[in-house]
Amino acid sequence: MMSNLKMALAGFCVLVASALQFGCGNEGETNVPAIKLTASVVASSADVTDHVHTVTIPFTDISAAPASDVYQFRSEVSSGHSHVIAISKQQMIDLNNGMRLALTSSTPNSGTSHTHSWSIQGGSLLYEKNCYNCHSNDKRNHSPMNVSFNSSQTMAVINPGTAPLSTSSAAIPDPNYSASTVVSLDGTSLYAANCAGCHGVLATSTKQNKTINQIKTSITGNSGGMASLGGLSDAQLQAIATALIK
Ligand code: HEC
Ligand code: HEC
Repeated sequence: MMSNLKMALAGFCVLVASALQFGCGNEGETNVPAIKLTASVVASSADVTDHVHTVTIPFTDISAAPASDVYQFRSEVSSGHSHVIAISKQQMIDLNNGMRLALTSSTPNSGTSHTHSWSIQGGSLLYEKNCYNCHSNDKRNHSPMNVSFNSSQTMAVINPGTAPLSTSSAAIPDPNYSASTVVSLDGTSLYAANCAGCHGVLATSTKQNKTINQIKTSITGNSGGMASLGGLSDAQLQAIATALIK
């Protein structure tokens, strides 16, 4: 068990060597992944009656190449009702670049009409997606180390609250939206959204010809923070494995 972990960390250090901003820790230091966080939870600001809602954004939705034109999320129920927020494709790309996003929710599904504003920090989502599984909250506001972030992502992870505000046009939330069970099985776009950031574009991927089992083992073992991909179904992983066949 211990040696498996050491091996994973050694591989991890090789991978990041080119984009390294911080050293890879001393040999003796191991920061065992304690928690498997697969999504970010963001809260609305309170309205006049002083209640808030939370919305869960799966990591698999946050990427440089979102598969959908619009993402909608229904909030948790609070004060007997819920709201929907919508994030456009470009806004999702902006979040993935660490930008901040200000959104207004739909009206509630019951009760007195009102909306909530959501202020989402892309830098926090990036931290949760790429760092949380190894560091819990310990390295918030620190320089990123494990992924090839661009400079805006790096700055946003260090200081999520001062990142620029997205000015991309908003998507209109549908108050009747309910989470659909339709999930993408397009291996090419799933790879672009979930793997390319760490393993390079599909055509030159460092993980060509890997099997679904090899991918699942890495997710279970949290190689390089891959536990954040725990939301991908077997069918989606198979689609990715198929796209990786050369
Ligand atoms: C695969 C697990 C893993 C992931 C993912 C990961 N780290 Fe680390 N990180 C480590 C280990 C192990 C060390 C060395 C031991 C330590 O200092 O905790 C380390 C060290 C660090 C250090 C230097 C130590 C210090 O206290 O200054 C910083 C800063 C850091 N990580 C930030 C991040 C950030 C930010 C992210 C996300 C972009 C991230 N790490 C992702 C495992 C990981
Ligand atoms: C946050 C960075 C990150 C993401 C995202 C990521 N990986 Fe990994 N992955 C790693 C690191 C680091 C390792 C360990 C070093 C290595 O093997 O390259 C690893 C290991 C693996 C391995 C096992 C090692 C091997 O070569 O057999 C496979 C397979 C793999 N990744 C496939 C994928 C696939 C497919 C995706 C997308 C579904 C993905 N990874 C997403 C960082 C990542």
